Amino acid sequence: MTKRFLSVVFLAIACGFLPLLCPAQTLRPVPNAQLASPEVNRRVEALLKQMTLEEKIGQTVQYAAGFATGPNGSKLSYDELVKRGAIGSLLNVIGAEATNRYQHVAVEQTRLHIPLIFGDDVIHGDRTIFPVPLGLSTSWDLSAVEGVARTAAVEARADGIEWVFSPMVDIARDARWGRIVESSGEDPWLGAAIARAWVKGYQQGDLSKPDSVAVSVKHYAAYGGAIAGRDYNAVDMSDVTLRQVYLPPYHAAVDAGAATLMSSFNSLNGVPATANPYLMTEILRKEWGFQGFVVSDWGAVGELLNHAIGPDGSTVARKALTAGVDMDMESNLYATTIAAQVRSGAIPESVVDEAARRVLRVKYALGLFEHPYAAAGAAYVATAEKRAQARAVADESIVLLKNAPIEGHGAVLPLGKWVKTVALIGPLGDSPKDMIGSWAAQGDAKDAISLRQALTERLGDHLLYAKGSGVLSGLDADLLRHTSFIDKPKQEVADEPVPDDGKTIAEAVETAKKADVAILALGESADWMTGEASSRAHLELPGRQEELLEAVAATGKPMVLVLFTGRPSAIKWAGAHVPAIVEAWFPGIEGGHAVADVLFGEVNPSAKLTTSFPYSVGQEPLYYAQFPTGRPAHGDLSHLPADAGEKFTSRYIDEENAALFPFGWGMSYTRFSYGAPTVSRAEAPLADVAAGRGPAVTVGVDVTNSGAVAGTEVVQLYLRNTSASVEQPVRELKGFARVALAAGETKHLEFPLGFEELSFYNAKSERVVEPTAYKVFVGGSSLAEREVGFAVR
Ligand code: NOJ
Repeated sequence: MTKRFLSVVFLAIACGFLPLLCPAQTLRPVPNAQLASPEVNRRVEALLKQMTLEEKIGQTVQYAAGFATGPNGSKLSYDELVKRGAIGSLLNVIGAEATNRYQHVAVEQTRLHIPLIFGDDVIHGDRTIFPVPLGLSTSWDLSAVEGVARTAAVEARADGIEWVFSPMVDIARDARWGRIVESSGEDPWLGAAIARAWVKGYQQGDLSKPDSVAVSVKHYAAYGGAIAGRDYNAVDMSDVTLRQVYLPPYHAAVDAGAATLMSSFNSLNGVPATANPYLMTEILRKEWGFQGFVVSDWGAVGELLNHAIGPDGSTVARKALTAGVDMDMESNLYATTIAAQVRSGAIPESVVDEAARRVLRVKYALGLFEHPYAAAGAAYVATAEKRAQARAVADESIVLLKNAPIEGHGAVLPLGKWVKTVALIGPLGDSPKDMIGSWAAQGDAKDAISLRQALTERLGDHLLYAKGSGVLSGLDADLLRHTSFIDKPKQEVADEPVPDDGKTIAEAVETAKKADVAILALGESADWMTGEASSRAHLELPGRQEELLEAVAATGKPMVLVLFTGRPSAIKWAGAHVPAIVEAWFPGIEGGHAVADVLFGEVNPSAKLTTSFPYSVGQEPLYYAQFPTGRPAHGDLSHLPADAGEKFTSRYIDEENAALFPFGWGMSYTRFSYGAPTVSRAEAPLADVAAGRGPAVTVGVDVTNSGAVAGTEVVQLYLRNTSASVEQPVRELKGFARVALAAGETKHLEFPLGFEELSFYNAKSERVVEPTAYKVFVGGSSLAEREVGFAVR
């Protein structure tokens, strides 16, 4: 080893603990200064010295002492284990009283008085439930995301939870995957921005604040790339795709100071993420400088046996721990196998020290040693203020997919004076529990406003209602009922079995005939059909809902389809035949009001899709940022020669290539027009761009509200690199802005582009900028046509 190398190693180690002593140019960026602080690390080291091996292992052990959110929940004597210092964390214990009870044991009855850290799946709110994350992402509103995280953090702390298993930042490009509902969609640029906003809102840049919670960024890594969209399935992708598409949101969250990450269930290129040194150590610790800890997902250490990477529990636990997974959620393998392996020399004790060190750092940074107990607050009330926030966020998360004119009325929406009587039809029209969506934490369906309730408030007797059908037909319901694993009583599978006799559809048709307009509230069951373990091989409306839709359409009544779903649906027939379509997702406790706001035009919709809607399931995985092909088909996003539509091209013989509704798509009640985009210079020096010296080029564009009402546009900028050593997608989002415009107003926007936007990963997995020409597209969706170009030479 050379002297120089040794001194670099010395500085790197020393600077990790004593950054103030180090010259500025030797400092590696520290993503979370609190975890790296000398004070926190001094206390951690002092404590570690006093700990026995068993006590150190205890910090790496987590159990669910409340309800189970996975299979084979542990049923142990948690009090006893806590008293022995054999547990570092509990999950799914809710409420100040319940958490404090365990915390008193940990703090008062253990030898070293080390507090527990309590974690829970607070995903889109704790008590006040907001739109599901996929819906929230369609707002493209980072301050709204931050605000949701803030409210959730305050409520979680009142519930004794200091650590949320959120945000889920997995890129999701396959609508079959049930967990797409928990994601921010298909795009890494937007996903990274949203990931930062979540972390900021939860942690406030200061874990020690009494209303901050530590995040657990999940599921690291690439969980959303599951083959065939089947949950828990293997992931196999190039390193370039991993780094360019899937890793950016995790990296952004780490850079924003994320205190913890959760390892994912999937294997990545043959190595399970939960025992993957490349992900956990090389990239996360060495490249990104992460100093928090990684918790496994539920039982994932034990599941390494199913992945067949070791013959017994000891081996797989060793692989997980040495790879860099610091805490074992619910496998009970670190607790039972690590000590003996340390004693036999199979695992160096320093590995255990490091895992315990990382956990303790977070506990210190959170201030748990000073303030271990939750302050018992008043019982939760969905106050007017909380409702106002939930409604405002939901208003921004409802996507107007289609709004065609109908005879005699112009566009169907917003509903005008001609609408006196409304027929609300469909199984999602009056289902408060579906409004709050899957993973609704402590949310209570009783707080949720259904669309029926909201419309009744407006229309009184002029609202007619017919359920029309169940979400599923009776047969499907029987099948799916068995898949619901969440054992929280209030999330029980509660929908009644649905008669399959067609009578309810006939009743719905009669109801529609009595009204001026029919609003069809169709979609998925939040609990049965979306979220974990809820992948679907069919993306059409389930059960008999398509039949219901077509039967009502046959009456010729003006109609609006409102979708309550946790994923893009394949609504090909509706796309062609229903004049107005609104995607409401699972919109949270104020969902019904928010949908009504949009239907009646009190809110001008501004949301834009963050996932592509397919015509057919066979197009999945479907996303806008496709790679080019040597035989492009006419009509692809790649702006191809118009004569490319012949046989030997990359296309389906029986379906479109394009999405029915593409990424970035969403309509408004006004119209936005774009001026010609400009660039600050036509050519930027490669050396400056590569060195990250200032923005290489600034793209400017004027956006005008050319309609008659105020509205908000999500302006999107896409780049195409026209010549690179590794082929680049036909378009990639590299900038966006939400802009409120009064009728007739014009605003000028600028998008600086530099190393962040222009670099990509080459075949050696290096992040580079190469000499090339870029095309820039600016507009209101991934179909944006306004174009300008510049070069880097
Ligand atoms: C399994 C899920 O994959 C994960 O998202 C969740 O946080 C844990 N269970 C804990 O409930």
